[in-house]
Amino acid sequence: FGLPPIKNEPMRNYEPKSDDRAKLQKAVDEMLAAGPVEVPVIINGEKIKTGKTAKQLNPSNHAQAVCTYHEADAALVQKAIEGSLKAKAAWENMPWNDRAAIFLKAADLLAHKYRYKVMAATMIGQGKNVWQAEIDAAAEACDFFRFGVKYVHDLYSTQPPENSPNTWNRTEYRPLEGFVLAVSPFNFTAIGGNLFAAPALVGNVVVWKPSPMAIYSNYLLLEIFKEAGLPDGVLQFVPGPAEEIVGAAINHREFACLHFTGSTFVFRNLWKQIGNNLDKYRGYPRIVGETGGKNFHLVHKSANVDAAVTQSIRAAFEYQGQKCSALSRLYVPQSMWQGEFKEKLLKQISEITLGPVEEFQHFMGPVIAKHSFDKIMGLIDAAKKEGGQVLCGGTGDDSKGYYVQPTIIETKDPKSVTMVNEIFGPVITVYAYPDNEFEQTCQLIDTTTEYALTGAIFSLDRHALLQASNLLRNASGMMYFNDKCTGAVVGQQPFGGARASGTNDKAGSMAIFYRFVSARTIKETT
Ligand code: ALA
Repeated sequence: FGLPPIKNEPMRNYEPKSDDRAKLQKAVDEMLAAGPVEVPVIINGEKIKTGKTAKQLNPSNHAQAVCTYHEADAALVQKAIEGSLKAKAAWENMPWNDRAAIFLKAADLLAHKYRYKVMAATMIGQGKNVWQAEIDAAAEACDFFRFGVKYVHDLYSTQPPENSPNTWNRTEYRPLEGFVLAVSPFNFTAIGGNLFAAPALVGNVVVWKPSPMAIYSNYLLLEIFKEAGLPDGVLQFVPGPAEEIVGAAINHREFACLHFTGSTFVFRNLWKQIGNNLDKYRGYPRIVGETGGKNFHLVHKSANVDAAVTQSIRAAFEYQGQKCSALSRLYVPQSMWQGEFKEKLLKQISEITLGPVEEFQHFMGPVIAKHSFDKIMGLIDAAKKEGGQVLCGGTGDDSKGYYVQPTIIETKDPKSVTMVNEIFGPVITVYAYPDNEFEQTCQLIDTTTEYALTGAIFSLDRHALLQASNLLRNASGMMYFNDKCTGAVVGQQPFGGARASGTNDKAGSMAIFYRFVSARTIKETT
């Protein structure tokens, strides 16, 4: 069947006095006034109130809960798996155009009917300002669902190019045998959506453990899919204690795939457990994961300083640095750093405001939770103890919300603590490299950390760009020339990294869908 045109969801700007701003403001105000909503476990379409509850807090104001959610346990995960396996046959046998329609419809519902509600839940629940919520919960989520349909359509059309006389060869892209476990992070509502949608698009059933810090926005996505016609049982929503929920799923014989975004530590741990369980399973489970980053901007002496400064600030401080892609290491030639780079950087940062996202005016909001706040402040202290010089920020206030000032640390040691460890907060560590050591700096960047997610090179000299790009070939899965290392757009820049940053299956591309199918080759003699 022909597809409707698939385009990136147009972004709205929410200028003061605009209609979009007024509607979003209303959704935010109503959500805050209504107080915490109650979120159930969802199994086979049934809303289950287990009575064992936890709260998702508003990180801008932690006295306030966004929702009270019911937690699942191992027994409910077992029930969820059984239910999903019962729903499986009808789902995978549903004609592709009917299955696709559910995802296109869900994207339209999100874009046109629930945009402000899901954005409000992402703002209040996950501490995103209006522009970051728009990029994530509106645009990227819709893009994942719509481009997902296009990529699967292309996948199904990918067939053997040759048939000998009297034969017809074809490839059938079967869903995996068993169920998929999706484990999603707090930082992107869209990632939660994609972690279930990508495997479900190709006919898999999914058991979804959302992050405890993104429950409400994730639950709203689930409701949208229900309204769009997703059959009960295809997607089971099982929030709760991570070890118990995930443990129950990966101990099951029918466990077929882990689709994960989160920390490197947790992912490695799960991979080991899955390895130890191998004899229990029907087949070899697929493991698809996107994990940490320690992303860099490399500035060449030919760079446009203003562009490099602005893009570095955006890459590091938008959403308080809580993107796996966020800038964390900045390398600038010494003479440029002392010349105008440092001054321009610090001046622009001094103009940044920080505050509750519902005020609609701040460039930065809170970090997600107390444990994040403590970890970030702890790493800044460790950097200071090692001799790192804090040029701005370095302070935080968690009395009302979890606010960390945008921080620049200058280090003389390119392997110092904040050069090596992932921070997941608004901190850039700068290493001013000797002007004549561009090549050595590339080698240094490549060998400083275990991660390889995103990176950018700023240079107006094409030779230098290509030289650095070659030397840094394996240092990132995403390479940006003269642009910030964040903000990959579905349908434009397939996203993922290698080394300790993940399996590099490229979310937002056709490639990832191969991981969720088990192809069957059919040769027919006519
Ligand atoms: N896809 C997100 C970005 O590129 C994480 O920033």
